[in-house]
Order: sequence, then C-alpha cells, then structure tokens
Amino acid sequence: MAFRSLLALVALAAVSNAAPTTVCPDGTHVSNAACCPFIPLIDDLQNTLFQGECGEDAHEAIRLTFHDAIAISQSQGPKAGGGADGSMLIFPTVEPGFHANAGISDSVNNLIPFLSTHNVSAGDLVQFAGAVALSNCPGAPRVQFLAGRPNATAPAVDGLIPEPQDGVSQILERFADAGNFSPFEVIALLASHSIARADKVDTSIDAAPFDSTPFVFDTQVYLEVLLKGVGFPGNGSQVGEVPSPLPAHSGNDTGEMRLQSDFALARDPRTACFWQGFVNEQDFMVSSFQAAFAKLAVLGHNPSKLIDCSEVVPTPKPAVNKPATFPATTGPQDLQLSCPTQKFPTLSVDPGAQETLIPHCPDGGQDCPSVQFSGPAPDIP
Ligand code: HEM
Ligand SMILES: *[C@@H]1O[C@H](CO)[C@@H](O)[C@H](O)[C@H]1NC(C)=O
Ligand SMILES: *[C@@H]1O[C@H](CO)[C@@H](O)[C@H](O)[C@H]1NC(C)=O
Ligand SMILES: *[C@@H]1O[C@H](CO)[C@@H](O)[C@H](O)[C@H]1NC(C)=O
Ligand SMILES: *[C@@H]1O[C@H](CO)[C@@H](O)[C@H](O)[C@H]1NC(C)=O
Repeated sequence: MAFRSLLALVALAAVSNAAPTTVCPDGTHVSNAACCPFIPLIDDLQNTLFQGECGEDAHEAIRLTFHDAIAISQSQGPKAGGGADGSMLIFPTVEPGFHANAGISDSVNNLIPFLSTHNVSAGDLVQFAGAVALSNCPGAPRVQFLAGRPNATAPAVDGLIPEPQDGVSQILERFADAGNFSPFEVIALLASHSIARADKVDTSIDAAPFDSTPFVFDTQVYLEVLLKGVGFPGNGSQVGEVPSPLPAHSGNDTGEMRLQSDFALARDPRTACFWQGFVNEQDFMVSSFQAAFAKLAVLGHNPSKLIDCSEVVPTPKPAVNKPATFPATTGPQDLQLSCPTQKFPTLSVDPGAQETLIPHCPDGGQDCPSVQFSGPAPDIP
C-alpha cells in the first residue's frame, strides 16, 4: 500500500502546476514561451490525424514514442542511438526499415508534414503527438511533457527494439540497458497494449487487437493475457504469436491476437506478480504507466535541461469506470496464474454463449479508414 501511495505521489508531481507567466500569440497563458508552439499543434494533430479518437492513428503514434525512445544503449554507447530524439522522422529511410519497426512507417510518414508547419523539434513532435493521442483514450493518464529535445543527428542502429519472439531475459535486459527500467516498469509500460492492434505479426489480418477493448485504456489486457489460449485469429501461428483466448472473427472484426512476449511476461517468475497486480487496478496501472512513460519520453536527455510544458497536454477523456470482466465464454477456470503470493480478484463474467466480437472501429462500426500520408519511410512486411 505504501508503495502504491508513493507511486501516486510521483505521478502527481510529474504534471507541473507552475504558474503561467507568458502569453502566447493565441492568447493562451503558459509558464514558458517554449510551450507556445505546442498549442496550435494540438488542434492540427487532432483535426488532421487523430480525429479526436483513440483509433488506429492514435495507436500508431503511441507506439512510435516507444520505438523512437528505446533506441539507445548504455552498453553500446552514444553512437548506437540518441533515444527520444526524433531520429525516426529525421532519417525516415533508416530505422523504419528495421524488421522490429515494421508498421512504424505509417506514423512516421503521418508526422513528418508537421515538422515543416510547426516550430518543434522531431523528438518533441514524436513525444507530444503520443501525449495528445493518449488523451483521446478513455482512462489514459495525462502524461508529463518536457520540451526542448534537440533534433537527432544520426539514426539508431538495428537491434534495439524488442520483438515479440524475444525471451523475457532479453526483453528485461534491453529495457535495463536502454534506461535502467525495472521489471515492474516494463510491465507498467505494457498498459499500452490495452490500446493496441497488430498489422504485421500476421499480415493476412488488419488490426488484430491485443484485448477486447482496444479503444479504451483499461486493465483488460492484463486479464486477457492470463487466460488459456485457444486459437489464432488469422492464418495460423506466426513468429512471435501464441494462441489467444478470443480468436473468433467476422468481417473487419478480427479476433484477438496474443504476442508471445506478453504471454511470457505474464507468466515469468520475475514479472508475473507485477502483471497480475494490474488486473482490475485501473488507478494503480495508470499511475505506474504514467511514471514509467515519463522516463521513456526523455531517454537520451537530461530532464533538467528540458522545459516542463505538461500544462499544455490535453486532459484525457475520463475512464469508462467499468471493472475488468471475463469476456463471454471465458471465466476463472481459464486463468493461468503463476504468481504465488497474490490473491486473484473476483471478477464477473460477461454474459453470452458466444465469443464477443471485438469491434473494428471506435464507434463500433466496420469501416473507419485511417488517415495515411505518403512519405519517405518504407512500408516493410
Ligand atoms: C516487450 C516489449 C514490447 C514488444 C515485444 C512489443 C511488440 C509489439 C508488436 C509486435 C506490436 C504489433 C505491431 C504490428 O504488427 O503492427 C505492438 C503494437 C503496439 N505496441 Fe508494443 N511492444 C512492446 C512494448 C511496447 C511499449 C513499451 C509501448 C508503449 C509505451 C508499446 C506500444 C504499442 C502500441 C500502442 C501498439 C499498437 C500499434 C497499433 O495499433 O497500430 N509497446 N507492440
Ligand atoms: C523556433 O523555436 C526556437 C526555440 O525552440 C526559437 O529560437 C525560434 O526563434 C523559433 N522560430 C520561429 C520562426 O518562430
Ligand atoms: C529539426 O529538423 C526539422 C526537419 O529537418 C526542421 O524542420 C526543424 O527546423 C529542425 N528543428 C530544430 C529545432 O533544429
Ligand atoms: C497463410 O499461410 C500459408 C503458409 O503457412 C501461406 O502459404 C499463405 O500464403 C498464407 N496466406 C495469407 C493470406 O497470408
Ligand atoms: C471493412 O473495411 C473496409 C475498409 O475500410 C470497407 O471498405 C468495408 O466495407 C468494411 N467491411 C464491412 C463488412 O463493412
């Protein structure tokens, strides 16, 4: 309990309440003039790209914050990569071509145009777009945003992005080497997979979700990854994929996909209790993600040299406030628990004799084309 309160305090402190002292050209009061360019950027991102939704384009921008930032290595030294430096946007033909970055070209090509219409650096643009995208996802935190990352001067090397077929040791070592992330912080960051779908793990399906509520930042992913897998949503087993508990599909509603890495992290003795500890603990998950994400967003930078512009990050849509539930056709009998020290919460089971189809679109529909600008980053399989 003491640990949880401490985390909550850290999270609160992360969102600055510094008194506004400067007036931006549009009349907004901010604490530092360096925060002004981000105000018009919010509306432009929302109107041009995200449509105010926690849809495909928002998900992709959130994934990009991770793939830009984690490309740094203490053991390999500064030449390996600069962390959250926007190198993806400045050198769009290099990192987006690495296998682990398959699919990232969508967000890279979508963000590049904003570099010439807004006076922000590439690294700031990537992290700020992710913060705005998160604010569209009900239940997500209002994350810290520090401004002033210099533009990248070189692309990162290949091999720094975790892949779903990587083992738990390899994943934990990578996060530790990138920025001293603890196993707890790695599991907290995977709250992002609550608002995530895969296009490239199985290229025969478009946008296969990792949980049954891919447009809401909730704890369902932690619950559903603990359930017994029964099948694959697409064309059989792919590299980095293991059976999921909800493979049923129809039309554009694809079945749930499970990453081998999420499966393994949920069951490994080093991480299983952290994983299980987030099930139905929305506030704890959110504050833990918020604190770990603040570390991720400044990898490669000295935070004291950046300017706190958290005040301009939009307030997220409120949480749905629905407790975690077992999806219809699943239940406590399907749990694969390996944390010996925690009691699993009592959760209700969604009614129905048939697997619920996971909606393809935030509005529940089947047809929600995402925005896609063409650009220099290559779309690799
Ligand atoms: C253990 C480390 C991780 C692995 C192995 C991993 C792997 C993956 C894979 C394979 C996909 C699907 C990509 C595709 O096929 O389109 C994905 C999607 C995603 N990941 Fe991760 N991931 C990890 C950690 C993270 C972290 C730390 C974040 C963010 C803070 C993140 C955010 C996302 C998001 C938002 C998506 C969805 C993208 C979309 O829907 O278009 N992931 N991840
Ligand atoms: C762009 O921002 C930098 C500070 O980040 C500032 O020095 C420069 O004057 C700005 N340029 C324009 C054209 O506003
Ligand atoms: C960063 O690079 C972009 C794209 O080349 C450029 O438009 C922008 O002015 C640069 N910003 C800074 C702060 O150097
Ligand atoms: C499905 O997988 C088989 C081999 O496993 C492959 O030959 C086929 O092309 C795949 N189909 C699609 C639509 O990807
Ligand atoms: C699936 O999505 C595509 C592309 O957005 C759309 O053209 C098609 O009508 C959708 N299918 C159904 C069954 O609505």
